[in-house]
Amino acid sequence: MNKIVELIKKLPKAELHLHIEGALEPELMFRLAKENQIIIPYKNVNEVESAYDFQNLQSFLDIYYRGAEVLIKKQDFFDLTWSYMLRCKENNIVHAEIFFDPQTHTNRKIDFNSVIDGIYEALEKAKKELKISSRIIMCFLRHLDEESAFETLNQALTHKDKVIGVGLDSSEVGNLPIKFKRVYEKAIKEGFITVAHAGEEGPPEYIWQALNFLKVKRIDHGVRCLEDKKLTEKLRDEQIPLTVCPLSNIKLNIFEKLSNHNLKKMLDMGLRVTINSDDPAYFGGYLNTNLIESQIALDLTKEDIKKLVVNSFKSSFLNEDEKKRWINEINILN
Ligand code: HPA
Ligand code: ZN
Repeated sequence: MNKIVELIKKLPKAELHLHIEGALEPELMFRLAKENQIIIPYKNVNEVESAYDFQNLQSFLDIYYRGAEVLIKKQDFFDLTWSYMLRCKENNIVHAEIFFDPQTHTNRKIDFNSVIDGIYEALEKAKKELKISSRIIMCFLRHLDEESAFETLNQALTHKDKVIGVGLDSSEVGNLPIKFKRVYEKAIKEGFITVAHAGEEGPPEYIWQALNFLKVKRIDHGVRCLEDKKLTEKLRDEQIPLTVCPLSNIKLNIFEKLSNHNLKKMLDMGLRVTINSDDPAYFGGYLNTNLIESQIALDLTKEDIKKLVVNSFKSSFLNEDEKKRWINEINILN
């Protein structure tokens, strides 16, 4: 095997941008659809594959929300999360920070507790049996209103032992971060860490707003930051992490092809870039595939790969001792 591919596989890795609903593989979708008697618009896996041909973020989201409708019972959320944790094991991901979208489920009258408990129990099992640590971040759907986000935040208040932070996802353009300023203020007051998707399809202004109004610790995606010199300098000087998702960006036509992706450029400029899989069941690959395909398309060096992987640990919400321990392990690998 190619030496650098071997290195990618054996490096202990952290994943910081992963929507658990986006880890729903077609096989599990079919099983749950049958079990829960939910109609899905596909007859077989081939039909699923041809449906996963997206023009932009919205065309993906329409299909992704439809897929999530098969998730009904606490056990379904457990099975979904456990299936992702097994993928983590395969990819040598030792730490995962996982997004979930409560409103996607509560709007279908699924109990918030079933969702969070199913996810949490699978993560606890993974901690014990697979030695994978994790955190849960709850995302607000930005196409919905402030009131719905407040309601969701209130539901999370009795789950602070499980949910460490809040995020913002769904349709970016037209749904400015400032819409959620007051929700985020309350979340921060309640002790949640904050992150937000910004600069995926939206312009640099959305990243500025996420930083200034939502006080985020990381920007999810953020690839459009380079259009604004001042913003780029701020991100570099303050080492604000960007959770970049290369295969997602290609599937959603943010970049035409991987060799056009700006992640190597951002890395070379000293930005704190990390690589993640976003919605791996929809975008054609888990973390190792994202790293390997990026390495090939952008001719990333061994040092680039190690830098990306170290950046993920530095940018994680692990404690400083845990971060150091993993970074030391990475540094001795070649
Ligand atoms: N962007 C916005 N919303 C999302 C994404 C994404 O990449 N994945 C799942 N929901
Ligand atoms: Zn995302």
